[in-house]
Amino acid sequence: MPQGSFSQFLLKPYRRGVDSTLGICKMPGLLSSPVCLTVVWFLSWLLRPSCAQIWTDEVSDVQFGRLDSNVTLACGNSKTRTPVVWHLNHSSALPWHKVTSNGTLILLHTNLSAQGNYSCYDNQGNLLHSVKLRLGHPPGKLTVSCQVPNHTHVRCSWVESVKTFLPATYNASLRGKTQDWRPCVLDVARKHCDVDHPAFWQTTHVLRITETNALDSKTTEIRLKLHVLLKPDPPESVSVEKIEGYPKRLNVSWNFPSSWPTHNAFPLVFHIRYRPQGSVYWSEVYSEISPVVIFDALAGHLHQLQVRARDEVNTESQWSEWSPLLVVQPWQAYPTPDPAEDLPEDFFSFSPKPETTTARSPNVVPEDEANLGLVILLVLFSVVMLTTILALIFVVWVKQKRRDHVTKQELTSMVKMKSMPI
Ligand SMILES: *[C@@H]1O[C@H](CO)[C@@H](O)[C@H](O)[C@H]1NC(C)=O
Ligand SMILES: *[C@@H]1O[C@H](CO)[C@@H](O)[C@H](O)[C@H]1NC(C)=O
Ligand SMILES: *[C@@H]1O[C@H](CO)[C@@H](O)[C@H](O)[C@H]1NC(C)=O
Ligand SMILES: *[C@@H]1O[C@H](CO)[C@@H](O)[C@H](O)[C@H]1NC(C)=O
Ligand SMILES: *[C@@H]1O[C@H](CO)[C@@H](O)[C@H](O)[C@H]1NC(C)=O
Repeated sequence: MPQGSFSQFLLKPYRRGVDSTLGICKMPGLLSSPVCLTVVWFLSWLLRPSCAQIWTDEVSDVQFGRLDSNVTLACGNSKTRTPVVWHLNHSSALPWHKVTSNGTLILLHTNLSAQGNYSCYDNQGNLLHSVKLRLGHPPGKLTVSCQVPNHTHVRCSWVESVKTFLPATYNASLRGKTQDWRPCVLDVARKHCDVDHPAFWQTTHVLRITETNALDSKTTEIRLKLHVLLKPDPPESVSVEKIEGYPKRLNVSWNFPSSWPTHNAFPLVFHIRYRPQGSVYWSEVYSEISPVVIFDALAGHLHQLQVRARDEVNTESQWSEWSPLLVVQPWQAYPTPDPAEDLPEDFFSFSPKPETTTARSPNVVPEDEANLGLVILLVLFSVVMLTTILALIFVVWVKQKRRDHVTKQELTSMVKMKSMPI
């Protein structure tokens, strides 16, 4: 860029100050010229440091323009007749544009790359004007959704339908049908706003959010039915435990969501669902109080379980989200049955605690069936033992008898046996 133009720009405020002082000095009878000259000298000394600061190429003006449109940049308010030269970021390469006869720059069909610092110079290279251009879109409608986790709180969040590329401010307020506007307290970074203690008895509310940026302002208005939006947070500290000695029972407990007032004015109903892992069908239980005992779990199977909550009185309100999925195994005598151990001969080598046999079968055996099995087993065992003993006695008896016979009639019997036909 031309060096001269720059010094010209930097000296401008300094000169202006000095010139205006000189102007005053020229007015007759006001001040004597030595005083005036001292003032001029003093002024120029004062303005020196500020000149040094301006040396950093500051552009104080910011102009905002719409993307995809024609943007007009005036070369200051100077009525320059001489042709002017425009630069962007100290370079003479400009996006698609035209310059009018009075030096105004028109950027045609702008896109984001047209942003930057624009400067115009006269044909001697003197800087006339400098402006920073920022481009974007005017705000569009907002998509607003509200959450009502209890009777004393509303939180509304929004999503922009248009990416504006520009900083924006917001104003949000809520009112019941027959009420005054109340501010909805903003958290712009998280894009939501909160109202405490809304008038819950009012059937409808109106929420109004206005987004404003340098180009325009847009108001979005939505109607709310707080009692329909009411949706508790999920129950907390949900836990499920096996019950010692009961292979088909589970004990489920939970706490109220911490965002729900626990006093009796706002009761909740809880919905518990559970199923053996792998099953598609849920079993369900409803309860107002914790804990709840499930009596029909499938013995020996892992179970999945979840709990959710809803306002008990207001049936138009929403169920909470489900609590995180829990997995539990009902009580078993043998913690982890191994199918390979369930061979029949195994029954004869186990430790003789009778009740332990109930869990010996691979999966599910109702208690009565298991007891029957035990009885049959014991009977079979006794029969086998008895048979063995009888067989032994018979063998011993036969041996004894044969020995007696042989000693008495050894020879005659041998002759008899040999003479028998084979
Ligand atoms: C544009 O001007 C701003 C404000 O003076 C300055 O901070 C920035 O560095 C300039 N950018 C360029 C590319 O000159
Ligand atoms: C921008 O300017 C061009 C040329 O002057 C013109 O043809 C076009 O219609 C303008 N576009 C808009 C959106 O004004
Ligand atoms: C000009 O500088 C700005 C930053 O100040 C940058 O965003 C823009 O892309 C630059 N434009 C060009 C054409 O270099
Ligand atoms: C925000 O909006 C409300 C209601 O529309 C209005 O009364 C209030 O003056 C606005 N506040 C600001 C800062 O614009
Ligand atoms: C209602 O919910 C909000 C947001 O979770 C919470 O800050 C507030 O303490 C809750 N009110 C009560 C009475 O629990």
